[in-house]
Amino acid sequence: MASPRIRKAIFPVAGLGTRFLPATKAVPKEMLTVVDRPVIQHVVDEAKAAGVDQFVFVTGRNKGAIEDHFDYQFELERTLLERGKDKERIALAHDQPGAGNASFTRQQMPLGLGHAVWCARELIGHEPFALLLPDMLHHAKTPCLATMMAAYEKTGGNVVAVSPVPEDQTHLYGIVGVEDARQGISRITTMIEKPPQGTAPSNLHITGRYILDPEIFEILAEQEPGAGGEVQLTDAMVALMQRQPFHAVTFDGDIYDCGSKIGFLAANIAYALERSDLRGALRSEIDRLTSSTKL
Ligand code: UTP
Repeated sequence: MASPRIRKAIFPVAGLGTRFLPATKAVPKEMLTVVDRPVIQHVVDEAKAAGVDQFVFVTGRNKGAIEDHFDYQFELERTLLERGKDKERIALAHDQPGAGNASFTRQQMPLGLGHAVWCARELIGHEPFALLLPDMLHHAKTPCLATMMAAYEKTGGNVVAVSPVPEDQTHLYGIVGVEDARQGISRITTMIEKPPQGTAPSNLHITGRYILDPEIFEILAEQEPGAGGEVQLTDAMVALMQRQPFHAVTFDGDIYDCGSKIGFLAANIAYALERSDLRGALRSEIDRLTSSTKL
């Protein structure tokens, strides 16, 4: 039987972004820009490119700017029209979800990623869905979620993107063990959130892209807090693995963790170097800064 089409995606954006204070005191971290697009817009672009057309945001306090960003801005549109700025106006219209295609629900307390996902249960209903962590920019010719969708058509069940990390960093991530790590798509045999050093089943970490069966919501409803006192999605996936298959898809592009300062800065440089309007000038600036005797 063919796997059902994935129409809906969840974007959990209720975290406090404490690593970016004071920038994130009044501005959601998902609205910080990588070049001239908010981080969240890059991730929505990835979902759109994979065929998603229903965007479900799990927001929290002080996240109103995200809702405004995906809304129609009447005064701005009219001003752009009057000033003949058609290129900018068309680009804005292109980025905007269609009427009724974006939904927002609130996670009143940041109790963990698993809890944030559970908050979207009524908006997702009884169909498989994608989940994209907006902090993690996945950069590749074929967008990560599109690669996962192609795998999902073959495997069904649940699909998780993974990527290798250095062995001494496995304790920082959700880690999976797989049947055959040499295959691009392989059945997951085990999964653990932040394993103590030296105990990880492999060096393949969960990168923040998932295709999940809605049965996960039943498990999340009962899920006790795990690592860090938070309701962990990985713990719920471990429980779901007893009932359904999970496959890992190895992502072979670049990943930028925009929840960390270095990842965010690296993403800005990498994405700007790809732009023909910025590349030359940015290279000159980098050369000037790195050859400075003050460094
Ligand atoms: P992080 O732990 O990286 O985000 O969660 P954070 O808590 O905002 O960051 P710091 O550590 O305080 O700087 C990964 C993703 O899960 C979401 C976050 O918004 C982020 O996109 N999240 C996390 C929630 O939506 N709710 C939560 O309770 C926790």
